[in-house]
Amino acid sequence: MESCKYNRVILKLSGEALAGENGFGIDFNVAKRIAQEVKQLVDLGVEVGAVVGGGNIWRGRSGEGMDRTTADYMGMLATCINALALQDSLESLGVKTRVQTAIEMKEIAEPFIRRRAMRHLEKGRVVIFAAGTGNPYFSTDTTAALRAAEIEADVILLAKKVDGVYDKDPHKFDDAKKFDTLTHLEVLEKGLQVMDSTATSLCMDNNIPILVFGLDEPGNILRAIKGEKIGTLVSSK
Ligand code: GTP
Repeated sequence: MESCKYNRVILKLSGEALAGENGFGIDFNVAKRIAQEVKQLVDLGVEVGAVVGGGNIWRGRSGEGMDRTTADYMGMLATCINALALQDSLESLGVKTRVQTAIEMKEIAEPFIRRRAMRHLEKGRVVIFAAGTGNPYFSTDTTAALRAAEIEADVILLAKKVDGVYDKDPHKFDDAKKFDTLTHLEVLEKGLQVMDSTATSLCMDNNIPILVFGLDEPGNILRAIKGEKIGTLVSSK
């Protein structure tokens, strides 16, 4: 394998990343661009698990007056729609993929079976983990942390709209300062909006580094995998 810092990764994409400029739904040109970047990793021999959010279709917590559990299940279904879109984009480029869902829907995709997922990864297939953890009250960030621990990923590549972790919102404050590195504990103590606290704690307890970087700049996923200094690295130190 060409020199890569990480051999097995979880790529976490927010649902909004698939929406592109529209902010809603799926922009297939954007999905194709992301797929092209993922293909570059696969071509290098990197084993890729992907977790995608669902916020471009349904924001679970915004359902006014809605039962939280029902809203969360709707969000999990939204991730399945995104997973199939990503699968389609990847396969149109000739990348072999499998979608595994945390809630059984066998007619649509395989159920999540850890050992099977590992085997797919070893065979060079991109495994897209859909339907979150299958439980309400957990985010897709937590799914990424959980699946990263389960498949023994070297890192979570957390693709965001901003190019790293800042001390305050860089869209609102010109003097916002970007962190190059942080510990999981610092993220929790400072209340930084990297992942939610459940996901961050899971990464901290299992020693999983998180590389936060901007998806808007083409080639960033490849840069991240090669260990170039981009974004913010959250690790145990
Ligand atoms: P290997 O045995 O490692 O070659 O893996 P494989 O996934 O190719 O084997 P399998 O014969 O189990 O699967 C063939 C195809 O059926 C793949 O596209 C799978 O994603 C799909 N598949 C397997 N199990 C299920 C399932 O429960 N539901 C759905 N919808 N598809 C499945």
